[in-house]
Amino acid sequence: MSRIFIGVAWPYANGVIHLGHMAGSILPPDIFSRYNRLLGNEVLMVSGSDQHGTPITVTAEKEGASPEQVADRYHGINKKAIEDMGIEFSLFTKTHTENHIQTVQDFFLALLEKGHLCKKDSMQYYCGSCARFLPDRYVEGICPVCGMENVRGDQCDSCGETFEAGDLISPRCVHCDGVPEVKPTEHYFLKLSEFNDPLLSYLDTNRWWRSNVQTFTTNWLKDGLHDRAITRDMEWGVPVPVEGWGGKVIYVWFDAVLGYLSASKEYSSITGDPDLWKRYWQDPDVKHYYFLGKDNIPFHSIIWPAMLMGYGGLNLPYDIPANEYLMFRGGKLSKSRGGAIDIPSVLSVYDSDIVRYYLSAIMPDTHDSEFSWEDFAVKINNELVADLGNYYHRCLSFTHKNFGSIPEAGDTSDVDSEIEKAFGEYSGYLGRCDFKKALKSLMDLAHFGNRYFDQSKPWALMKTDKKKCGEVLNSNLKLVKALAVMSWPFMPKSSERIWNYLEPGVSLESSGYGSVLKPLKEGTVLESPAPVYAKVELPKPEKEKDPDVHRDEPQDFAKFGKLDIRVAEVTSAEDHPDADKLFVLNVDAGEPRQIVAGLRAYYTKEQMVGRKVLMVFNLKPAKLRGFKSEGMLLAADDEDLGGGKVLLLTPSSDLPNGTRMDSGLGSKGSRIEYKEFTEAVMKVHSRRSASSIGANLPEGSPDPVVLIVDGDKVLPLSDGKGSIATLESAITDGASVR
Ligand code: MF3
Ligand code: ZN
Repeated sequence: MSRIFIGVAWPYANGVIHLGHMAGSILPPDIFSRYNRLLGNEVLMVSGSDQHGTPITVTAEKEGASPEQVADRYHGINKKAIEDMGIEFSLFTKTHTENHIQTVQDFFLALLEKGHLCKKDSMQYYCGSCARFLPDRYVEGICPVCGMENVRGDQCDSCGETFEAGDLISPRCVHCDGVPEVKPTEHYFLKLSEFNDPLLSYLDTNRWWRSNVQTFTTNWLKDGLHDRAITRDMEWGVPVPVEGWGGKVIYVWFDAVLGYLSASKEYSSITGDPDLWKRYWQDPDVKHYYFLGKDNIPFHSIIWPAMLMGYGGLNLPYDIPANEYLMFRGGKLSKSRGGAIDIPSVLSVYDSDIVRYYLSAIMPDTHDSEFSWEDFAVKINNELVADLGNYYHRCLSFTHKNFGSIPEAGDTSDVDSEIEKAFGEYSGYLGRCDFKKALKSLMDLAHFGNRYFDQSKPWALMKTDKKKCGEVLNSNLKLVKALAVMSWPFMPKSSERIWNYLEPGVSLESSGYGSVLKPLKEGTVLESPAPVYAKVELPKPEKEKDPDVHRDEPQDFAKFGKLDIRVAEVTSAEDHPDADKLFVLNVDAGEPRQIVAGLRAYYTKEQMVGRKVLMVFNLKPAKLRGFKSEGMLLAADDEDLGGGKVLLLTPSSDLPNGTRMDSGLGSKGSRIEYKEFTEAVMKVHSRRSASSIGANLPEGSPDPVVLIVDGDKVLPLSDGKGSIATLESAITDGASVR
């Protein structure tokens, strides 16, 4: 057993984290940590929100809020998003805390004392009309290299050139549009040049780093390091802890990397073991891993190690498995591309484990990789569902049906050797942070499982040799268990669900990899299994959501937004043979569906057939009194208002079957539970009553009109092109739709 430390790059608290952050720096360490925990290692894994620096102040000005408000708001959102993805940090904290500020100031003073810092004048843009020095992102102008307009003062996003103050052509202050001058200002510098040689030999003894990281770092060192300013003229940040330095703060990168240390200390005090961090930072046998995107490499492979060397007595990074970028249509995946890719939006549609699967399968570990929703659906449906999910389900359900419990084992050596081989590959890859390949070994084993099941034909053995059949199933279930344990680092929730069938009441995590080849407990009663992964529907080519609208705050109509409502036509109606309130209907909703509906008290069969109705299209199919029901017709009901009417909803103009009728707010694919449907509020009002409660009705609206209601917001239920949901006749104002 050993201890390892995992540092994860701290996302800026100026936006909602998205799939790029997940694939690049946040999911890989979670997989690695879980892998280590299953091996029985102790892991300290920390990160938090990077809350200082111009990325935050620029956003704050844009949003008209204070830097602290912005930093805390996004911290809250991102912390939750990370938890919802099933990422387990020891601690995910933030940089604007007393503990962190203290740690940074102490560290700064220690370096100052040891002579690793010096004061120098540096040239910086100064805006006379704003009466202040302008940090990097507050000046824009024309790139002197490529001619790009509106590039920032520190770097050209177009050609990548980095600038010193004075380089930009036609610089202007982003605040007042005034022309800034270049003036000297005094700053502290980290004497990086002194660390050039120590860093070169450090790099030389760390030859296991990924080649992208080695190359990048070598190139930086080859050019020779320059001393680097580590203070800035601004208010928001960690104050420089020196008399007379008011109005200046410590540079955000010097501040942020120290989060690894401050968070370790904070975690120690939270757990009531104040010296815990020392066992990770001062014991030279503890390996330190840092996970980040490639744009963060030099800060972790050069500046942070230099700071640590200067301070002394703390472990240096052992490995820095930096990832390349996740790309979307040829550009870096970011908030501004690819529609709703922020984690809360993605998780409002898809389960975290399938997102984790896809991101692991396309992880940009050695090169940039391409993300697309189409590929997402393909990989989930054809790999995860078809191979792994299918294998789990056929083994568990066949055994459950025919034996009811785990049958006796026979000779399991054939599956054992296959498991051993796959496990060997898999752990070799995971130990080297080669996640994509590890996942591949795992999926190959699932593939083997499906073949093994086919070849051993348990359905035939069941008729001829039940004992042998049981043995074959035992072997298959052993493979199922191995797969569940091995996939836990990638997909923890679903793996535990599978594990619990075979090892009820036992914890997967504490059983660890030792359980992979352990014989099953014969006689364990099997619960009836439910499929663990569901297919995703290919996303419809719909217009992309406004990328600037985050789903971070409670969104208007969020509950309604889970529904998929469509126009359908009733093609046939039959009485349910043994339920006198129910019809069994067939409808054409762009595709045929069978629906069981409790409408016999209100409509005759003749009235039903040929009727245009609205249905909830993405309700999970259910069996109602023995008949499958694949959706629900929407009807208004004023029973609780004393009316006693039930009337089916219908579009105000004739629309093709299958037309979406959810005002452009509806869901993009996932199935919902009945309960989720009941949480969305729709009401029917006369036109007059609708206007009086604030509905904005277009010309020619029908009467009555169906409204979507969320708090004090109301919106007509429509196809977005002028057809609005209505009823054949009036009903009590405020009747509910169900
Ligand atoms: N906030 C930085 C970014 O998003 C990363 C900081 S990593 C740290 O690019 F280690 F310095 F915190
Ligand atoms: Zn340029």
